[in-house]
Amino acid sequence: MESHEDFAHVGQGTVAGKFLRRFWQPVLVGDELVIGRPRRIQVLNEYFTAYRGQDGAAHLVQDACPHRQTQLFLGWVEGSDIRCFYHGWKFDPQGNCVEQPAESEAYRQRIRIRGYPTREYLGLVFAYMGEGEAPPFPLMPEIDAVKDSVLYNRHPVPCNYFQRIENDMDELHLHFVHKVSTDEVGLVEFPEIDVTETEYGILRKGIRRESGHNVTRTAFWMMPNVLMTFTPGRPSRPQWMLHLAWRVPISDTEMCSFIVAAEKGGGKGLKPRPEIEPDANFLTAEVLAGRMRVQDIDPDYPGLFMVQDNVALGGQGQIVDRSLDHLGQSDKALIFLRRMWSRELLAIAEGREPKQWRRPGESFLQERTRELELAGAFTS
Ligand code: FES
Ligand SMILES: [Fe+2]
Repeated sequence: MESHEDFAHVGQGTVAGKFLRRFWQPVLVGDELVIGRPRRIQVLNEYFTAYRGQDGAAHLVQDACPHRQTQLFLGWVEGSDIRCFYHGWKFDPQGNCVEQPAESEAYRQRIRIRGYPTREYLGLVFAYMGEGEAPPFPLMPEIDAVKDSVLYNRHPVPCNYFQRIENDMDELHLHFVHKVSTDEVGLVEFPEIDVTETEYGILRKGIRRESGHNVTRTAFWMMPNVLMTFTPGRPSRPQWMLHLAWRVPISDTEMCSFIVAAEKGGGKGLKPRPEIEPDANFLTAEVLAGRMRVQDIDPDYPGLFMVQDNVALGGQGQIVDRSLDHLGQSDKALIFLRRMWSRELLAIAEGREPKQWRRPGESFLQERTRELELAGAFTS
């Protein structure tokens, strides 16, 4: 496989890894990072040290101490710096070595680690893990405009991140993977798929002309790995929902969806989504091991959608071999996505600049705001 066709491997030095590292990515839920308790985290098939300084700011630096490689998360947080547990070398969030107790001043000045720009937003800790200056931080004014409740959380999926992205392009799976729900709302007509490349990524529509209400589903998919969907209310469930999902690789065989969802009801403000019992990942593992059937899960279980997707994706294997696929006309959006990614990765592999992806323009925000207005998002 040519390197620009390999979407799956994202470690340092891989082409897809270089592409993803050009964008800010969520790495943790903010609540997971407690002052003075550093964490070793894995993102993009690479390890990092995340910690929260005494002033409350989140920081991300490299995994191992440059002295003799002990993982930095084992050490102490001092002010906004982190001190290695083994021999006390101390680093600031930018990666400067600020103390080296048993060495000369000249030696200290020569030592540096990687320190990555971080920013907390919508309950998540984001970092820029690429080379050079970080690009402008991608704000989400659609969510910022909502005065109702905004919930954030994350959930792991036991497969490569690109399988999760491809699923975002897959409107047809709704009728099988989420059949319980589509049956309930009478969504029976298979969609006609329409895809367009935009300044931000892909505008994908699943058009159904003959069914009852809420038939055409639209997804705004932002390069390289963010899905935005707006679900208007419907008679049986009047709550609208504006949903953002970042599909972030953890390793090459596991990914994590970072979710921010604004929805009607549930009070105001930004807060973590309540834990789901039983754990969706436990149920996913049980189904994939053949100990239970996804078809037998209680339709009212709140994590059902997640388990259903996880099972379909985990069922493809940890890293699916795309050369074995037999794609059809219903896979149009997915073919479009793969072509677009190949084009971008080829530019990177050849040392050219890929397309300058931008946030959706003003008219997009106005349209979403109008939808939210109609749904009553600003009146509560
Ligand atoms: S290994 Fe970190 S100071 Fe020695
Ligand atoms: Fe799904």
